[in-house]
Amino acid sequence: MEGYRASTYGDRIAGVYDRFYEPVDVEVRMDVLEALAAGGRALELGIGTGEFALPLVARGVEVHGIDVSEAMVEQLRAKEGGAGVPVTIGDFADVEVEGTFSLIYVINNTLFMLTEQEEQVRCFANAAAHLDESGVLLVDAFVPDVTRFDRGQEVRARLPDLETVRLDVSTHDPMQQLVDFRHVLLSEDGIQVYPAQLRYIWPSEMDLMARLAGLRLRERWGDWRRGRVTSKSQGHVSLYERA
Ligand SMILES: C[S@@+](CC[C@H](N)C(=O)[O-])C[C@H]1O[C@@H](n2cnc3c(N)ncnc32)[C@H](O)[C@@H]1O
Repeated sequence: MEGYRASTYGDRIAGVYDRFYEPVDVEVRMDVLEALAAGGRALELGIGTGEFALPLVARGVEVHGIDVSEAMVEQLRAKEGGAGVPVTIGDFADVEVEGTFSLIYVINNTLFMLTEQEEQVRCFANAAAHLDESGVLLVDAFVPDVTRFDRGQEVRARLPDLETVRLDVSTHDPMQQLVDFRHVLLSEDGIQVYPAQLRYIWPSEMDLMARLAGLRLRERWGDWRRGRVTSKSQGHVSLYERA
């Protein structure tokens, strides 16, 4: 998409992100992340406004972050405790951070925001290079469902209140596994458009990316409550460790 860069999504949506995405299952996720951090340091790839990093910090975990969007990180820093979270500004496919971590996590489909397979492969390698000897990489992502698209398109409507219409408009390129989407908000303030691009990864492809990085799948759940993953699972939480 012409003019779209890694930072575009965050830079455009930062001001409304927390209203768009109310965090769900926060305590359940914190139980998982705190247990996996096991007293060590954690690194969140695409830390954003800190919706999940700050509750983890509140549990006493030392959390670091990477994000490419200054605007998203500004939102994090404005929150109570946010200024104390060390964040490296850069692309999580490549950026250097100091030291290693017992837990690296990338949640809410954020890994798919890398829009080329090559970048996603590099991201696994970068994460592997920053894991402690017994460290874990956790990936939380949707299971691709190409039946959502009718002739390569989808429009979903939401009506959050009497005055607002939210349309999520997507186009799909199955060859590149790319989904181009726009959140379109129609309200009395006018029309706002928030662009994003995703390259989805099949779970089996993800396991291969991990293998290329010297990691192996330790566990895969169908949800954060450690539910069984089945053919009907719409998402998965996958844990990778050193092979
Ligand atoms: C969907 S938000 C998720 C934020 C946070 N993880 C959460 O769950 O609330 C994705 C975040 O990843 C960041 N991001 C997207 N692509 C990135 C990249 N290539 N490198 C670093 N950060 C990236 C965006 O700026 C945004 O803050």
